[in-house]
Order: sequence, then structure tokens, then C-alpha cells
Amino acid sequence: MIYLAPLQGFTDFVYRNAYAAVFQGIDAFYIPYITTKSSQVPRKYEREILPENNLNRKSVPQVLAKDEEEILELCSLLRDYGYREINLNLGCPYPMVTNRGKGSKLLTGPDKLERMLEFYFKNFQIALSVKMRAGFESASDIEQIIPVLNRFPLKKVILHPRIAKQLYEGTIHTSAFQFAVDHLDQVPVYNGDVFTLADYQNRKGSFPTVTDWMLGRGVLMNVFLPDEIKGIKYTETEKRLKLHDFHTQIMESYFQMTDNPGNALNKMQQFWLYFSHHFSHQGKILKVIKKIRNPGNIKPETEYILRRAELKITD
Ligand SMILES: Cc1cc2nc3c(=O)[nH]c(=O)nc-3n(C[C@H](O)[C@H](O)[C@H](O)COP(=O)(O)O)c2cc1C
Repeated sequence: MIYLAPLQGFTDFVYRNAYAAVFQGIDAFYIPYITTKSSQVPRKYEREILPENNLNRKSVPQVLAKDEEEILELCSLLRDYGYREINLNLGCPYPMVTNRGKGSKLLTGPDKLERMLEFYFKNFQIALSVKMRAGFESASDIEQIIPVLNRFPLKKVILHPRIAKQLYEGTIHTSAFQFAVDHLDQVPVYNGDVFTLADYQNRKGSFPTVTDWMLGRGVLMNVFLPDEIKGIKYTETEKRLKLHDFHTQIMESYFQMTDNPGNALNKMQQFWLYFSHHFSHQGKILKVIKKIRNPGNIKPETEYILRRAELKITD
């Protein structure tokens, strides 16, 4: 199984829907976290979980909550929308989040986490999975968290084996992942730095019992990666057509959704930060995209790139 990682600001419902329409390789799409502010779910988060924006039925929403009250609020909303799995965020590393006791900060309080999980399973019948890091300040946090996780019927434990202060860079703690393989009652889902088929094969070699993989930036940079892992191959012409189709769906949705074309241009410029990696001259192409000031220019510029620029060979 291959899951798309939640990437706030990148894998929004526009991205997920276009991906599901054009490619096959992703088995479930994890929605970037939703959270509450003064007991309200802000509109930008609610839009992501609306059933009409997640019609492919492969979406799993994620909650970023600090206590039972927030769990109740967020998960009740998700239950009312009919979701069949909810994911709890135990990994977000940013101080804005962790200072409020959420995300990876929960890895420092096994008792608190246990109370939250108890509360969840008492009040909700929906399957729960968790997405975690190896720790907050130390990769040994995982050693006190795993016994807590083992007490509950979690659907999945997804592990990105870094600690919070590393954010998304630096050495992967393979020994922390191995600790999870050895001590969890279930096989964890691996997540982190799988950017190429070779990366996948290396990780698979290190953790041969792992069957489920969550990929994030690797998919943003190479939308064919899940298919490559699953052995589905495309010719260069097919690849170009698929990239074009995917890009068109995303761009049209962003322009249709807003009254302010400048916002759509910003979203497309964000998207190209990673999407430019599909092309041999990535740096040059990104420069061209970043320089665009008039929203009307993004369409012809990208059309030219998608038709003419040399594709990077990845497999
Ligand atoms: C821009 C960005 C936004 C992210 N947003 C979320 C999020 O909303 N929830 C979450 O659990 N992880 C989030 N992550 C972490 C990713 O889901 C993933 O764990 C991380 O990128 C490592 O996987 P990768 O190397 O395959 O990208 C985010 C990461 C990035 C770079």
C-alpha cells in the first residue's frame, strides 16, 4: 500500500482530486491536519474535509488536537461527515503548534496521550491511526510512547523517524524505526525521504517486513513515483500527457475557486516549487515561474514548459 502524506499547503483537495483522476498508485490520501481556533474549525480547514471535496472515498482526515475537548470537537465533525478512519497528528514540529501542547509535543507525555486515546475509543467507533515522529527532543521518546500505543486497537502507526527540531531535514533515525518494528504490536508504516525508486528499495531492504509506505515530497517531485514502485511504467509521451492533464486540472481549479487571480498565481508558484523537479532544467524553469507577476501569464508560460521542456528520466 502507498499513502500520500499530508502536506499542508500542497496536498490540498484540488491536488488530491487531480491526482486521483490522473494517476493510480496512491491507495489513500491523508488530508493535511485540521484544528480548532476558539472552538471553531476555520473555513480553510473545513473546506479540506467537506465530503463534496473528497468524493474519491480514499481520503483520511487528520486532527491536530491537544486534549479530549479538542478531540471531541474535531472528531464529531468528521464522524458527521462519514469518514471511516481518522488520523491523529503526533508529529507536527513547529513551535506555534508544540507550544500549545499539540503535534510532536504529545510524544513527551505518555500519560496525557493515553488519556486522549482512551477518550477517543470510548466516544468514537471510527478507526483511528496515528502519524508520529521518533520524538520531540530525543529519539528515545518513542520508547515510552510505544507501550501506550500497544494498549489501543490502532488501525495504523505511521512513523517519520526524525525528532521535532530536525523539521524535515537531517539524518533519519533508522534505529528508532527498527525499535518500532521490534516493539509495536503491528508493523509500522514507513514515512520519510523516499524520493526515488532506489530510496524505496533501500528502505525496503532495511525494513523487509514493512508493507505500507507513506510518501510526501517524493510524490510532489515525481508524481510517477507510486506507479514506479508498483511496477507501472509509462512511455515519455504518456508521461508528458499525464503531467499536462494533472497540471491543467490543478490550475483550472485554483483559478475557478477564487475571485482574486493573484491568489491562484501564488498557489501555482507554490505548486511549481516541487513540480519543476519533473524537468531536466529544474532550476531554470523554477526561476521563470517565480518571476511571473501577471496571473494571465502563468498559463502560456507553463503550457510552453509542459509541451517542450525535457523531462527528467527517473526510472
Ligand atoms: C510543507 C509540509 C507540510 C506538512 N504538513 C503536514 C501535515 O499537515 N500533517 C502531517 O502529519 N505532516 C505534515 N508534514 C509532514 C509530511 O507528512 C511527512 O511526514 C514528511 O514530509 C516526511 O515525508 P517525506 O520525506 O516523504 O516528505 C508536512 C511536511 C511538509 C514539508
